[in-house]
Amino acid sequence: MGGTPPTPGHAEAGAGAAHEGAQIQEFGQGQATEYRVDTADGMHELGLKLGGKLAAGDILVLTGPLGAGKTTLTRGIGQALGVRGPVQSPTFVIARTHPSLVDGPPLVHVDAYRLGSAAELDDLDIDFANSVVVVEWGRGMVEAVADAWWDVEIERPVAASADDQELDGDAPRLVRIAPPHSDAR
Ligand SMILES: Nc1ncnc2c1ncn2[C@@H]1O[C@H](COP(=O)(O)OP(=O)(O)O)[C@@H](O)[C@H]1O
Ligand SMILES: [Mg+2]
Repeated sequence: MGGTPPTPGHAEAGAGAAHEGAQIQEFGQGQATEYRVDTADGMHELGLKLGGKLAAGDILVLTGPLGAGKTTLTRGIGQALGVRGPVQSPTFVIARTHPSLVDGPPLVHVDAYRLGSAAELDDLDIDFANSVVVVEWGRGMVEAVADAWWDVEIERPVAASADDQELDGDAPRLVRIAPPHSDAR
């Protein structure tokens, strides 16, 4: 590593010049990359791209407010992996396993929002080694079950006006993807 990484969120994400899904900032080899994503389709595409890099044993932690696009991203990941859908918000279950249709690893989609503790995540007995596991709201939880994971954060790049506080359909998202780096832990 070495050197001080640029401050995330500094990029001119709202400038409008970059194309959909444009990579707007890279923090160096093995470090985080930021993308601006203007539409739900763009988020799905980013998931497709990210999913193409994943293999059994990979864990992704998705952070971002309700409606940020975590599940939309996961749907793209699921398509890239060739798993059985539909990938949707796991409302009635904490974790849903999507088996592979192409003889690859299953996608295990976890909604950690209602988990009370990291111990409860451990209790789910997920086969991490043989699956790709996506954990929405997983920060502060995965440490109990893994040494390294992809850290994905979704946020709005620009402040909303005072009377527009909820994440609406038109707001572009800023997605920061940091690959696993077990040496840092
Ligand atoms: N740029 C965008 N990225 C992702 N989702 C978007 C975007 N613009 C609009 N949306 C909409 O926002 C919603 C995101 O929902 P979802 O993926 O379920 O979020 P989460 O899982 O983070 O709660 C969807 O209705 C989607 O169509
Ligand atoms: Mg969700």
